[in-house]
Amino acid sequence: MLYVGIDLGTSSVKLILCDEKGTIINTVTKEYPLSFPKEGWAEQNPSDWYEQTVLGLRELVGVRGAELRGLSFGGQMHGLVMLDENDEPLRPAILWNDGRSAEECAYLNNAIGREKLSEWTGNIAFPGFTAPKILWVKKHEPEIFARCKKIMLPKDYLCYRLSGEFVTEPSDASGTLLYDVKNGRWSREMLDICGITEDMLPKVRRSSEAVGTLKRELAETLGAGEVIVAPGAGDNAAAAIGMGVVGPGKCSISVGTSGTVFITSDKFAADGGNALHSFAHADGGFHLMGCVLSAASCNKWWMEDILNTAGYNAEQEKITGLGEGGVFFLPYLMGERSPHNDPAARGVFAGMSMSTARAEMTRAVLEGVAYALRDCVEAARAAGIEITEARLCGGGMKSPLWRKILANVLRLRLDIPACGEGPAYGAAILAMTAAGEYSSVKEAAELIVKTDGFIEVDERLAEKYDRGYERYKALYQSLKGWF
Ligand code: XUL
Repeated sequence: MLYVGIDLGTSSVKLILCDEKGTIINTVTKEYPLSFPKEGWAEQNPSDWYEQTVLGLRELVGVRGAELRGLSFGGQMHGLVMLDENDEPLRPAILWNDGRSAEECAYLNNAIGREKLSEWTGNIAFPGFTAPKILWVKKHEPEIFARCKKIMLPKDYLCYRLSGEFVTEPSDASGTLLYDVKNGRWSREMLDICGITEDMLPKVRRSSEAVGTLKRELAETLGAGEVIVAPGAGDNAAAAIGMGVVGPGKCSISVGTSGTVFITSDKFAADGGNALHSFAHADGGFHLMGCVLSAASCNKWWMEDILNTAGYNAEQEKITGLGEGGVFFLPYLMGERSPHNDPAARGVFAGMSMSTARAEMTRAVLEGVAYALRDCVEAARAAGIEITEARLCGGGMKSPLWRKILANVLRLRLDIPACGEGPAYGAAILAMTAAGEYSSVKEAAELIVKTDGFIEVDERLAEKYDRGYERYKALYQSLKGWF
């Protein structure tokens, strides 16, 4: 039997086709535009997601439609999709890295109060989260707010269009700030604050639950019979499943458009400092997560927009002097989420001289992203969580040099999964579980996921990076007021 995992990313949708043992048969990627209508804003058209996914599905499945048994999703989190009474999108989706709702966050965190938000949802407000963006639309686009009949997250929009099921699941619901993570239900208090009702929100089902089937007309175009659909997970939870980060006490790190540190637990626990998000995992447990808004996207920006090259490897080959300082880079091109919660922060190069060459600036970009992720790891360490190793995924981690930098900046042994398709692979595992191939997500992940090598900490390099990290931290503190 064959399964499809769909990862609805920020630059593209990635689809994988695999058998019940997790052997990958085909992969397809379809891109769509991302728009930045104003500085710090980020939007996408939900119809693009759907159209590209359907195109991708046909290409992916080819002539093997008859073997297709199940499908599920991993998706960019937090995005606000609003539909009218005819299920048409009322406006472009406002994405996870959009910083426009700073005022709404200040209202929620200060006037309503962090303690109350934490009590009701397990988290405080960050501009990327869904609830502050609903408040923004309510204030700035009241006519759209008034016509809104359904609110959903990006991958849930895909699920709705593909299956007709208006559902979500705990891992993605956690990032809305409308969901009581600890008790597993929508928060009445937050719904009231946002002026919305529960019937506007999807039903929360399990990530690996068979909630419906692919619409008949779509299944027919693929040559498929009944294809089970499961709600899936937010991309970080899906990636964790796809890397075997299931059950308590494990850690995964993703360096994609965003960078995340994901730490699993079997009990709900909020981070007292509120630097880390306290979310549900797709295996039925929980996790803490730190999110850096611009990770591999910083390197892409530096390579493609500034240096005007596609030669990532060639640029990295010129790099010497890891951890030797000199030039530093703050990767806050879209503001920063963890730990600063500062939508006004911006990217900075510091420490250049007349002898600075471009390789040193490229190195600073790679190191700056790693230092930003260390901020998340340090927040976990400050909360008493001891992490010594992690599994690694995301486009940025295809670079052996960047992996080495990351392992030593974070002081973590990094395991490399044999399948680098993180969220899509996790989504396929959720689909297999929904179809009954495995009795639980844990069993599926343990039997399917394999690792292929690791990077160990080199103590001498890690010491250099300890010193570099102190300088890096000081830079944001001294520029905070200026931002
Ligand atoms: C997590 C987050 C990002 C997006 C990226 O909180 O905002 O990792 O999910 O797709």
